[in-house]
Amino acid sequence: MAAMDGEAPHVSSRDDAVSLDAQDPLSRFRKEFAIPSKAQLKAESLQGAEARDESSADGTASVYLCGNSLGPQPMLVSTRIQQHLTTWSSQGVFGHFKSLAGLPTWLDADSKASESIAPMVGAKTSEVAVMQTLTANLHFLMGAFYKPKLDGRHKIILETKAFPSDHFVVESQIIHHSLDPRSSMVTISPPSASHSLLPTDHVLSVINEHAKDTALLLLPGIQFYTGQLLDIPLITSHARSLGIFVVWDLAHAVANVPLQLHDWGVDAAAWCSYKYLNSGPGTIGGLFVHERHATSGNRLAGWWGSSKGTRFAMDNSYTPIPGAAGFQLSNPSIFDITALNASLEVFAQAGGMKPLRAKSLKLTAYLESLLLKSAEYSKLFEIITPKDPEQRGAQLSLKLADGLLDVVMHELVLRSVVVDERQPDVVRVAPAPLFNSFEDCWLFVDAFSEALKISVKAKEGIVEVGVTKQPEKTT
Ligand SMILES: Cc1ncc(COP(=O)(O)O)c(C=O)c1O
Repeated sequence: MAAMDGEAPHVSSRDDAVSLDAQDPLSRFRKEFAIPSKAQLKAESLQGAEARDESSADGTASVYLCGNSLGPQPMLVSTRIQQHLTTWSSQGVFGHFKSLAGLPTWLDADSKASESIAPMVGAKTSEVAVMQTLTANLHFLMGAFYKPKLDGRHKIILETKAFPSDHFVVESQIIHHSLDPRSSMVTISPPSASHSLLPTDHVLSVINEHAKDTALLLLPGIQFYTGQLLDIPLITSHARSLGIFVVWDLAHAVANVPLQLHDWGVDAAAWCSYKYLNSGPGTIGGLFVHERHATSGNRLAGWWGSSKGTRFAMDNSYTPIPGAAGFQLSNPSIFDITALNASLEVFAQAGGMKPLRAKSLKLTAYLESLLLKSAEYSKLFEIITPKDPEQRGAQLSLKLADGLLDVVMHELVLRSVVVDERQPDVVRVAPAPLFNSFEDCWLFVDAFSEALKISVKAKEGIVEVGVTKQPEKTT
């Protein structure tokens, strides 16, 4: 059954979903990932988690639609990490300079990672650095480019519902410059209380209103709560034309939607790699600095950002590497970088973001169409993510009627369906095209309908559900 890009294939049965998977050229990549089995999710010991009996009903894969929070482990990660462990155990310190089995030396692992990630974000290799973590990178970028005392522009614009870490970064940067967030921090709220999205013209009007004394704009490429993909090129060019330095938080956009950071003229950006980049919990992040800023900014210095040629001269003369690499401070964790490089190998095998986005448009549209067809329950939730496929990535955010979330999440976990929640009432579901299937979407909607049914009965007191609160998710 052929489907146009972004159009939901017209199917509804599980068999139809399976047949869509059979026609999907990317479906072969699912086996490159360790998708937890139902039994593994129930395990309480490592021994239990290691046993994987695919012949039992519980041995089959869970429905893992949570790559927006933590991507599953690519099989290649343990192979590559083991190769570096062997390099370490067999070569000791020489691993810094000696390459075994075609692996990058430890001295070159960061540049190799930059080469691999540059096409994922539409950047030149010199414009990206794989380093530190997202929040730290936002601070490093602002440390370099937010200079309120020099040019008099002191305001930073961000969204009212920014991810808390972004809010804290902006607030503390302002305080760090002895300014007051009450006058220097401008937040963009949706145009009315009944909206959760940020229309582009509304964003532009807030920028216009504060343009004269605004130094910097920080926005998310994709908003973590609603899944809205903002118009990065238009907002960037508008803000820049008013003299504002534009920074994007790409936590939910990198490896989810195609990005052209260089061509769009973005000043700077930062991201993490544990979500759609599938590189492991808390692993190394990345940043982008446009080449026009290759040598500008009051960057904070460390030896890894200093010229490779003189790095070991120990003469205390700092010669920053032009471009993003010059923002590095420390020698990076090889295990972090190796996990990222291994994951990027899988993305490269899949052909990069173009084919992935083509599948993602179909997959998310399919999920949406199944949800909209579940008419019996459709009054119990609303999809708050934009309907326009150009304004979203993989994720759909489902806002539930009051008081249903805890029971719905409890019932989904019982059915080995992994999605995440945002209190008080949102379930986020993200079919990632590299490892998720049409069948996953079908199974989710089936389980979600059941969960909604039970949650309504529980609310009315018809059934009792022993809800144990899910652990707080941090990402
Ligand atoms: C939008 C956004 N910004 C910032 C962060 C914080 O990331 P980190 O803990 O890697 O600094 C996250 C984490 O999920 C996020 O989603």
